[in-house]
Amino acid sequence: MTTDSIRSSYLNFYKTRDHAIVPSASLVPENDPTTLFTGSGMQPMIPYLLGAKHPEGTRIVDSQKCIRAQDIEEVGDNRHTTFFEMLGNWSLGDYFKKEQIPWIFKFLTGEIGLDPDRLYVTCFRGNSAINIQKDEESAKIWQEVFAEASLNAKIVDHPETRGMQNGRVFYYDETKNWWSRSGAPSHMPAGEPGGPDSEMFWDFGEKRGLHERSTFKNTPCHVNCDCGRFLEIGNSVFMEYIKTDTDFEKLTLQNVDFGGGLERISAARVDNPDIFTIDLFSGVIARIEEITKQSYKDAKDKKPFRVIADHLRAVVFLIGDERGVNPSNTDRGYIVRRLLRRAIRFGRHLNIQERQWLNGIAEIIVSLYKESYPELTKHASRIYDELMLEEERFKSTLEKGLKKLSEYTAKLVAGDLLPSSAVFELYSTYGFPIEMTREIVKERGIAIDEVGVGEEFKKHQEISRNAALGKFKGGLADNTEKTTRLHTATHLLNEALRIIVDPNIRQRGSNIREERLRFDFNLNRKLADDEIKKVEGLINEKIAAKIPVTKLEMPLEEALETGAQSEFGARYPKRVTVYSIGNFSKEICGGPHVANTSELRQFKITKEESCGAGVRRIKAILI
Ligand code: ALA
Repeated sequence: MTTDSIRSSYLNFYKTRDHAIVPSASLVPENDPTTLFTGSGMQPMIPYLLGAKHPEGTRIVDSQKCIRAQDIEEVGDNRHTTFFEMLGNWSLGDYFKKEQIPWIFKFLTGEIGLDPDRLYVTCFRGNSAINIQKDEESAKIWQEVFAEASLNAKIVDHPETRGMQNGRVFYYDETKNWWSRSGAPSHMPAGEPGGPDSEMFWDFGEKRGLHERSTFKNTPCHVNCDCGRFLEIGNSVFMEYIKTDTDFEKLTLQNVDFGGGLERISAARVDNPDIFTIDLFSGVIARIEEITKQSYKDAKDKKPFRVIADHLRAVVFLIGDERGVNPSNTDRGYIVRRLLRRAIRFGRHLNIQERQWLNGIAEIIVSLYKESYPELTKHASRIYDELMLEEERFKSTLEKGLKKLSEYTAKLVAGDLLPSSAVFELYSTYGFPIEMTREIVKERGIAIDEVGVGEEFKKHQEISRNAALGKFKGGLADNTEKTTRLHTATHLLNEALRIIVDPNIRQRGSNIREERLRFDFNLNRKLADDEIKKVEGLINEKIAAKIPVTKLEMPLEEALETGAQSEFGARYPKRVTVYSIGNFSKEICGGPHVANTSELRQFKITKEESCGAGVRRIKAILI
């Protein structure tokens, strides 16, 4: 069974259970300034989990492209990847635990043929502090499901300290068995949906001795142990809560968000703990072997092969995305650059001599996915051009930069700090992403002067401060000062357009980056120059008036009745936060915002253009 056929059999399995198959959303989320990339199948589904009607109904199935940029440095072991596909099935207030658990078990054991005896599961232990009960219901359903497969599944608690205890169903706390975009309950902002989850693990078997050979050997092994014996292959989230300012409330709907790692399921299917041996990787690894004339199987250090295979796949999907991201020095583009340059550097470990080798591998990736992700073929020439350019840009300086770095570190020993001036020179003259310098010196126990680097990069505005400090970890990480100011400016713009141009204008989309805001709205014509001037004038007047920005939480109905703006097509929870800028603007919004408009200083529109029928787009900056 190929990985492609696992994907299609999953989609079909749920199709026969009345699910609509929907295509993967873009890796670049729209209207979500809180995250750089789509990192789970759930992100594009948020409005529907919050109660919006999905045009395809209440049962959805998909395979979503995901990037977890925070995992870049984990790549190199046998199971971490930055790019992966997440199989997803969704109940939007439709079925719940008693359907979800037996179905996914049936899919994995019946359709894929995984041995039930090698599957272990976890459920939420409950937490009285947040008033959420132990998920005994799921544990019981699992027990019944295993009983049907003639297995007596014992339910046990405290596996972290007591180990397996001959159990098959284990309770864990909210750090393991709770899902929301921002993690555990205490990290969730008000208005964020989440819920307890139930994870499934594949056991590669005690006999392999993975635990005994790992750094965890002195603690009891359990399914969430990081020794590699158990691999999480799927997670059913029972998404039925929403965080309020103080507590949790039930959402109107009981939803299911299942996410299964396609590549991991495939690795379990062939019972090989090295995910890089599955068919979707083997062609890529074979090409690397060809280029390097070295064998992956025999390599003592497999990390360079894995880094190259993973990073190039991620980059091909990012550049080839419908909202393609090219290498650059800011936000998403910076991640693409970092991935590429890290792959090139690891190519050196394999002594690759060819000048242009990235595209030989990229071609294999594009062709592997030609059926399932045709956008790669469609954008193939863009992918190849960008790879070639970036390879040229970096190759010419990599050698010199590495030489320079060894000069800088020649006199340093473990525990020393590499001065920020060196880090900055490596970045600006030799194109070394700061994380790369950090990673290289770390191998010798040397750290970089993080504080100094922060200051150095602040002085030089070439790269966003965030990237410099290594904060680009994907997920909810992008609430920087700059984006917050632009976010408040977006609210002023939204209102100013209604006052100056047309009272029927509504937001159709918004995207904020460190350097600018982008705002889409409905209008059938171009804005006149004097309208643009008046909009800018009104906004700058509101900035000069030093108006405080206030936040209130209230029921959705009340917010709408009192005239709060909502985004066209967006769906909201029962209780919402409303941000007001004096009595000038009032919008339903998750925040964050500045405390006072004076923080915005000066607003300027840099572009006004059409972006589709009846929709205009404005780009603006704060100076
Ligand atoms: N959203 C859940 C996860 O990513 C399924 O684990």
